[in-house]
Amino acid sequence: MLIFSGSSNESLAKKIASELGLDISPIEIHVFPDGEKRIRLLESVVGEETVVVQPTAIPTDENYMELYFILDALKRNGAKSITSVVPYVGYQRQDHVFRVGEARSLEAVVKMLEVSGAHKIVGVDFHSIKIPELFKIPVVHLSAIPLFAEKIREIGFNREDSVVVTPDMGGIRRIKELSELLNNVEYTAIEKDRDLATGSVTVAKVHGGVKKTCFIVDDMISSGRTIVNAVNTLLEGGAERVYVFATHPVFSEEAPKILQESRAEKVFVTDSIFVPKEKEFEKLEILSIAPTIAQALK
Ligand code: R5P
Repeated sequence: MLIFSGSSNESLAKKIASELGLDISPIEIHVFPDGEKRIRLLESVVGEETVVVQPTAIPTDENYMELYFILDALKRNGAKSITSVVPYVGYQRQDHVFRVGEARSLEAVVKMLEVSGAHKIVGVDFHSIKIPELFKIPVVHLSAIPLFAEKIREIGFNREDSVVVTPDMGGIRRIKELSELLNNVEYTAIEKDRDLATGSVTVAKVHGGVKKTCFIVDDMISSGRTIVNAVNTLLEGGAERVYVFATHPVFSEEAPKILQESRAEKVFVTDSIFVPKEKEFEKLEILSIAPTIAQALK
């Protein structure tokens, strides 16, 4: 098996390769003065099983274009199979049309991945369980929930005084799964309203109880507004400590700042997306999803 990496998260690709006892295969990514990229494989892929690792977060469109070109290079140079590991799939929140006149952007992205040459996709904690249905090729859907359960056990939780919380009704399946892994601890769902034009978030209703220790779990943190609203709601409802877990650190806008300034104890994310130094903050802890991905590639 040959593993290639795009430029969006080389450290994750290296960790996956090392879990498999491999090195990253060389690739040249040349950027022209106008921003266009030229991809060139520096090793023969004829008849090889190949893997390319490239999450497509900020800068989303640029990372997608690079991925399409790597897939194309693998296809036209004779790879036997091409597995595209996209730990974070950009545009996944546009998996359906919300308002008349909108594009279904995720569907367009999926078509591009398929025509560029991907035979199989490996993703982590998709925003919706229905996303794999948009693909014609096989999709392996992995999850960080077992990793989060392990961390929560390490922090220490008491079944009577703890609750797992989704800050969004779309996350019910995730917290049910987490609850099962944590001795069926109770779960609570926060119903939020988001203004589709401005992106502002308000809490509409809390379904379930609040306990002393709350573990919020979400698929991603983008602006951070959903998490900060949830943390405040839980503390105002009687919680004493709130821990935050989210698979994908998209961290747009002022997210690192508002998360650090929030009243959350700690914020745990995975390395599905590379977090540059300038976006790190004291309360942040990054857990690696590489062993989970490597296991799926074996
Ligand atoms: C919502 O549907 C998702 O599960 C996340 O809660 C949301 O995308 C987070 O976005 P933000 O951090 O911008 O509130």
